[in-house]
Amino acid sequence: MSTLIVGETGAGKSLSELPWFRHKLKEKSGKLVFDFHGQFTDLCGEVAVVDGHADKIMYDKLSAEKYVLGYKLDFKAKSRGHEERLVDGLSQSFLVKRGYKDGFDHPYLDKAFKWASRLVLRQSAPLNSFRYALQGPDYGGLLENADMETWLAFQRYERLTKGERERQIEPGNRVLESIFDSVTVSSRLDGGWDFIEHLRKGGIHLVNGLGVSPDKMRTFGNLLLVHAIECAKEQDFALDVWIDEAQRGFITPYLAEQLVQIRGFDCSVTLMCQDVSFPLEFKETIFQGCTRHAWYRCASRTVREEAACDLIGMLDRNRVHHYEDRFVSVRGPTVEYDAITKNSSESEDEDGRTRTTKGESVTTRERVLWETIHQRIPHYESPQSQLIWLQQEISALGDGERFVRDKYGCRKQYVYPLPKNLYPCMPGLSKRRWKRFLRQLREKPVYRPADQAPWIPAAAARHGRKGKRRS
Ligand SMILES: Nc1ncnc2c1ncn2[C@@H]1O[C@H](COP(=O)(O)OP(=O)(O)OP(=O)(O)O)[C@@H](O)[C@H]1O
Ligand SMILES: [Mg+2]
Repeated sequence: MSTLIVGETGAGKSLSELPWFRHKLKEKSGKLVFDFHGQFTDLCGEVAVVDGHADKIMYDKLSAEKYVLGYKLDFKAKSRGHEERLVDGLSQSFLVKRGYKDGFDHPYLDKAFKWASRLVLRQSAPLNSFRYALQGPDYGGLLENADMETWLAFQRYERLTKGERERQIEPGNRVLESIFDSVTVSSRLDGGWDFIEHLRKGGIHLVNGLGVSPDKMRTFGNLLLVHAIECAKEQDFALDVWIDEAQRGFITPYLAEQLVQIRGFDCSVTLMCQDVSFPLEFKETIFQGCTRHAWYRCASRTVREEAACDLIGMLDRNRVHHYEDRFVSVRGPTVEYDAITKNSSESEDEDGRTRTTKGESVTTRERVLWETIHQRIPHYESPQSQLIWLQQEISALGDGERFVRDKYGCRKQYVYPLPKNLYPCMPGLSKRRWKRFLRQLREKPVYRPADQAPWIPAAAARHGRKGKRRS
C-alpha cells in the first residue's frame, strides 16, 4: 500500500512517520529512504540503531566527499523492460522538475536524454567515464565490445547532437554533464558495494541529499530508486521506500506508473511532500496509486482546497447548521360533550286553550381542541460550506495531527511520537549514539574519500583543462 503525505513544513510529517518506520523494522523487507533535508534519514537511522538493527544500516550522505559509498550498480544483467524503465526514470527526473522550461522545451531534448541515458546504462566502460557532450575524442572507446543495438543508440544520439540540433539541446546536455561529471555522482558509480543484494537481504539504506544540488540528488536518487523497484519486481523481494520532500523531483510519470504496478508485489512507497503541484498528466495517477492519503496542516490555500476535496468522505449529509424555533397551533385531541337542546311546543286543547309543552333533549357532540407547540426545525449545511469548514480544520491542525483517507474511510488522527526516554533521536536530546555508529560504519572499506575515485572530467577536457582534478 502506497501513501501520500502532504503538509506544510513543521507540521510533523517526518516525526509522525517514524512510528510506522519502526513498525516496519520488524519485517524483513528492504528499506530505502531518500531525503533532501537529511533529517528524516538520520531519524530513521537513530531509531534503527536504538532498536538493534544497526547491522542492517548503510548510510550515504551525498555531500560527504570524505566518505563516498562506492555502489556496484549492475544494469547489464537485467531484462530489456528493466532497461527501458531505467531510461524512462532517468530522463524523466530531469524533464519533470524543470517542467520543460529554461530551454528545456525542445522535442529533441526528450529524445536526446533517452538515448543518452540508454548509453550510460549500456557502455562497457565504467559509468563515470560517460561523456554526454560526445565531443571527447575517445568517446567511441567507451563503447568497445558493445553490441549492435548499443552502437545504433550511439548513432541515433550522435545524429541528435549534430549541427543545429546540438545547439538546441545544449542546455540539457550541460546539466547532464555537470551531474555525471561531478565528484558526487561519478565517484559513486564504480564501487564494490552491492546495493540490490543489501536490500534483498532486508537491509536499510539511507540516502541523505543535504548539501548537494537538487539536480544531482534527483538524478542519482532516481537511478537508485528505479533500479531498486525494478529489481524488487524481478527478483521478488519485499521493498519499502520512503521519499521525504518528494515534490522536488522524485515524482515522475515512471513513479506514478509504478505506484499502480507494485500493488501486485510486496512493495510500498511513501511520498512526503509539502505541496501537490505535480504536473497534470500524472497527478491523477499519483492520487490513485497512493491508496492512503494523509493531510497535515497546510499553509497553502490551493493545497487546502485539494485536501478538502480529497477528504470529501468527512462531509456529513445530516450536519445541522442551526435550528429554527417556531410556535405553531396543531390539532389536538377530540373531546365529546353533551349538548342540551331546549324545545317547547304549543298545542290547543279541546276547549280552545293553548297549552305549551317544554322539554329538553340531550345529544352527544365532538369538539376539536387546538394546541400551541414549540418546534425546532433543523437547517442542514450545504456540502460547499462544509468544504470551507474542512479547510479551516486543516489550517488549524496541531503538530502531529492529520486527516487520513483510505479504504476504511476518512478520519482525524493524532500520531503519538516515539517516547523520548527510549529514543534519543527526539528533538532536544542527544544524538551521540547515532554519531558513534556512523563513525564505525564509515570505517568499512566500501567507503572511501572521493579523491581516490577515478574521474574523467569531460567538461574540463573540452575546456582545455585535461586531467586536472577539481578540488
Ligand atoms: N506527533 C507529534 N506530536 C507533537 N509534536 C510533534 C509531532 N510531530 C512533530 N512534532 C513537532 O513538530 C516539529 C516538526 O516536525 P517534523 O520535522 O516532522 O516536520 P515536517 O512536516 O517533516 O517538516 P519538513 O517538511 O520541514 O520536513 C517537531 O520538531 C516537533 O516539535
Ligand atoms: Mg520532514
